[in-house]
Formats: sequence, C-alpha cells, structure tokens
Amino acid sequence: MKRLFLCLLATLSVLSIAAQNEFDNEVMNTIMARRSVRKYLDKPVEHNKLEAVANAGINAPSARNWQYWAVRIIEDEKLINDVSEVYKQANPDAVSRDPNFKNMFRNAPNLICVCAPKDGGFDLDAGLLGENMMLAAQSLGLGTCIQTGPVRFLLSNEKAKFFLDRLDIPEGYKLLYVIAIGYPDETPDAKPRDASKVKFI
Ligand SMILES: Cc1cc2nc3c(=O)[nH]c(=O)nc-3n(C[C@H](O)[C@H](O)[C@H](O)COP(=O)(O)O)c2cc1C
Repeated sequence: MKRLFLCLLATLSVLSIAAQNEFDNEVMNTIMARRSVRKYLDKPVEHNKLEAVANAGINAPSARNWQYWAVRIIEDEKLINDVSEVYKQANPDAVSRDPNFKNMFRNAPNLICVCAPKDGGFDLDAGLLGENMMLAAQSLGLGTCIQTGPVRFLLSNEKAKFFLDRLDIPEGYKLLYVIAIGYPDETPDAKPRDASKVKFI
C-alpha cells in the first residue's frame, strides 16, 4: 500500500515537473525528476538493472574515448555492512542521532563506486559517467545519491582498507565517488536551482 502511494506520488511529481517543461519528453522528464534519494526500501537491485545502469555509464563521452575510469558495483551486502560497522565505531554520535541508520551510504542496498586516475585529469569524464548512470537508474524506477562524504572516510580510516582492497582499483587510480542505488522509499522535493547562473551571450 505504501509502495503504491509512493509510486502515485512519484508519478504526480514527474507530471507536475513535466508540466514546467516546454519540451515534454522522456529525457527531459527523467532529468527533472531525478533527486538525491537518502531512504531506500530493503530490497536489492536486480543484477540486470545494475548491468543496464553501468552500461549507460560507460556510454558517456570521454576525452578521445580513452575511458579512463573504473566502475565497481557492490552487490555484497556484507561488505557494505562490515565497512559501516567501522564507520559506526568511528562516529558513534552521528549514528546514534540517526534512528534510521542502516549503513554509511545513505542506507542504500547497492553501491556503484567510480574510480578515476589519481592526478584528477579525468575527473570530468568520470562525472559524466556518473550522471548517465543516475539518469538511467531514474528511468528504471531506481533512486540514487552520489556521495563523496563516504570516500573521505574510507580514505582516511585505516580500518576501512579492506573495503578499498575489495574494489580492486587499478594502479594509479583513486576512488572518486560512490553512487548509492536502490528502490526509493521517499520522493524528495526538487531543491531550488539558480537560473541566474546561466547567461546567454
Ligand atoms: C560531488 C558531489 C558530492 C556529493 N556528496 C554527497 C554526500 O556525501 N552525501 C550526500 O548525502 N549527498 C551528496 N551529494 C548530493 C547533493 O547533496 C545533491 O546532489 C544536491 O543537494 C542537489 O540535490 P538533488 O541531487 O536532489 O537535485 C553530492 C553531490 C555531488 C555532485
């Protein structure tokens, strides 16, 4: 019943956002409907959907098609829980303030970890890959939240090294960001956007 209500809400929000679009098509509506989701159903994403999302990611443009990125999709719930235990130990106050805390990645059942060359020269390419994946996920009824907060923790806490080791990050690459992904259990409102950032010359 709750899911039905959420689906109805999501549809209504897509419709109301779509109504603001002069050009009402699936791509525009998907872009306008995507919001960072920080509450997920307790249900892993199907493997074929994760594959489809990753495939959308690697179809993003990259400089000279070099594809200097590495994508690691976490389906191992235990790995997420184990590293979240390390996070809990290091941040007991933050965790106790959040009664809904399930894991350190905004409680998502699955993760997409995006790695890029350490020198930062291809972070832009990796960013494009990520937005493709988040929009593809949105189109499949999935929610996402791109996050760099957990990366800072993972890189700074020696006890979290086992998580990075499992990612099998290529030599010379770094973990750049994580995308939490799962079935949404909330429909966040759009945050305000500043149209004055855009100028036509
Ligand atoms: C580079 C980057 C890092 C972010 N890191 C976090 C994070 O660590 N935790 C989090 O909850 N959201 C994170 N976000 C999500 C932003 O808070 C969110 O995109 C922004 O508030 C706009 O909201 P919207 O995505 O719903 O449109 C990050 C977004 C970007 C682009």
